[in-house]
Amino acid sequence: MKVTYLGHSSLLVEAGAMRLLFDPFITPNPRAEAIDVNAIEADYVLLTHGHEDHLADAEDILKRTGATLISNFEIVSWYGEKGVGNAHPLNHGGGADFDFGRVTFVAAVHSSGLPDGSYGGNPGGFVVETGEGNFYVSGDTALTCDMKLIGESVDLRWAALCVGDNFTMGYRDAARAAGFVGVDRVLGVHYDTFPPIEIDHAAARAAFTEAGVELVLAGVGETVEF
Ligand code: NI
Ligand code: MN
Repeated sequence: MKVTYLGHSSLLVEAGAMRLLFDPFITPNPRAEAIDVNAIEADYVLLTHGHEDHLADAEDILKRTGATLISNFEIVSWYGEKGVGNAHPLNHGGGADFDFGRVTFVAAVHSSGLPDGSYGGNPGGFVVETGEGNFYVSGDTALTCDMKLIGESVDLRWAALCVGDNFTMGYRDAARAAGFVGVDRVLGVHYDTFPPIEIDHAAARAAFTEAGVELVLAGVGETVEF
């Protein structure tokens, strides 16, 4: 499947004919200047939690494309008040079937307040099962033992894991997370956007290599085949 990195934790995944957009944060991100947010087409928008650096462009994209929002109950309700009608709420441990496959909302250790101070529910990640392969998007999280349950439950082809440290796990813990969920290829996200999460790319790749896992650090706008 094709995965286009849009900077920070924003990903566009093409699963069959469906385009799944995760955590769009493009217009406020100087590193994503080259991305034309109005050219992004999506059938589904998946939001891991309520922080601005994960949903900045979600409302505009949802309204322009008519895509279906998938997120936790509180975030779906918040967008409902803004007039986003196509939406499917989940909560931890629960999954649902969509036309591209199945999405399960899984635990993340983080926080999730919405930009206007509203309660954003609890943060999560997504396990996505499709005919083209299965993958895990961690969202912002610490390394947790719960990740082992994901590895036991689903045969994953790849994962998008936060690697930037400071606000989430860093690359050493992310390399361990790759082992917990059982993948040998990882797309690194949530790094370099702000000074506290800048990372040494060579050291990050080396930490993953030591764990027997390939770390892909894609350029913004780059499409990678997983
Ligand atoms: Ni966050
Ligand atoms: Mn974040």
